[in-house]
Amino acid sequence: MQGQKERDQCYKPILEELNSLFPSRCNKRPPTCLVPGAGLGRLALEISCLGFVSQGNEFSYYMMICSSFILNQTQNTGEWTVYPWIHSNCNSLSDSDQLRPVSFPDIHPASEGLLKDSPCVVVTLLKSIVIQVK
Ligand SMILES: C[S@@+](CC[C@H](N)C(=O)[O-])C[C@H]1O[C@@H](n2cnc3c(N)ncnc32)[C@H](O)[C@@H]1O
Repeated sequence: MQGQKERDQCYKPILEELNSLFPSRCNKRPPTCLVPGAGLGRLALEISCLGFVSQGNEFSYYMMICSSFILNQTQNTGEWTVYPWIHSNCNSLSDSDQLRPVSFPDIHPASEGLLKDSPCVVVTLLKSIVIQVK
């Protein structure tokens, strides 16, 4: 899965720490976690999949527009494709490097992890995102 290695390096220690701090979680009264500077909301989503009510705070509307789109509007995995390197040939060894597609989302936020079979409430507020286990 694309980006998994990088996510493991950054997110795994955080997820493991949360897991050890709150070992007995239940869906009825899940613990709450704030993610400051949540960017596209992936860490906030991973934390919600762990069984937390997860709130991401973000001040960039560029990030908020994208996270809102991914969290609230996507229907399937791999639904959308972007070409992130299309506008630059810097460090590209071949045309195929520059034309490499990236599909997203790699997981569907509303139907993965603990949220499966129990749809999550994904709300985008003015400057924060809230991902809640229902
Ligand atoms: C390096 S990115 C990390 C994104 C995300 N946590 C991740 O792991 O992929 C830092 C994010 O923090 C946001 N940020 C920085 N200062 C902030 C602040 N004072 N309030 C809210 N968001 C902030 C930036 O807009 C950026 O999206």
